[in-house]
Amino acid sequence: MVRQHVNPLSRYHQQPRPLPPLEELFAAPSLPLHLDIGSARGRFLLALAPLRPDHNHLGVEIRQPLVEAAEADRLAAGLANLRFLFANAGVSLPDWLAQLPPGRLALVTLQFPDPWFKTRHHKRRVLQPSLLRALATALAPGTALFLQSDVHALIEPMVALVEASGCFDRPAADPRPWRPTNPLPVPTEREQHVERQGLPVWRVLFLRNNTPPPPLDALEALAAADGVTNGASAGGEPRPTP
Ligand SMILES: C[S@@+](CC[C@H](N)C(=O)[O-])C[C@H]1O[C@@H](n2cnc3c(N)ncnc32)[C@H](O)[C@@H]1O
Repeated sequence: MVRQHVNPLSRYHQQPRPLPPLEELFAAPSLPLHLDIGSARGRFLLALAPLRPDHNHLGVEIRQPLVEAAEADRLAAGLANLRFLFANAGVSLPDWLAQLPPGRLALVTLQFPDPWFKTRHHKRRVLQPSLLRALATALAPGTALFLQSDVHALIEPMVALVEASGCFDRPAADPRPWRPTNPLPVPTEREQHVERQGLPVWRVLFLRNNTPPPPLDALEALAAADGVTNGASAGGEPRPTP
């Protein structure tokens, strides 16, 4: 049985894992890279990778049995532009992103991350200032970070953190505060589940701008001042744009 949640702050999950060379991961390692954080059973990337053969797709997931099952499906499908790796994103991704050739990272998706509702568990949420800073450092100007969630009290502080960094803007044409649609051609498993129930989804597409990432301690101070890492800024739940 696959556990519903694992504690990313446990000693086991705090161990960094190595990033295999891109040449070992992908048949065409120089393609632009799409990173999906929290790829779960992998069905989103398994459906997207054949539709986007001009990209490599990397799913990172903290629950190892899900990674193994997703990898088995990937091998069976013969997809050479897709890999799933077991890692705690908050621990391993900063190093992995720093190892990528400049400009290689083309898209980051963070979709329906675990909400960890209790205040004392907010530190377990995946988007912390250090990961956001690493993403901002690796993403070139014009590349995209897509966030979506069905939990308003979670996505609001995530958006506040991204905005506090000063490193991202929304596309001029996008409705504020939320995008009504997913810009990608494939919904995630959680997205399908939520939409089948007719429940709202909050979505934001960010584009990397030219602003250098702030120092980590400055970003942490901004986040703490805004309450963005403990969810304190989350207010009521406005209905998303239909
Ligand atoms: C609610 S599920 C959403 C899965 C998928 N993105 C979707 O939309 O269907 C969140 C996933 O993120 C994974 N996850 C949580 N914390 C993580 C972390 N620190 N690093 C990598 N994956 C993580 C969970 O194990 C889970 O599979």
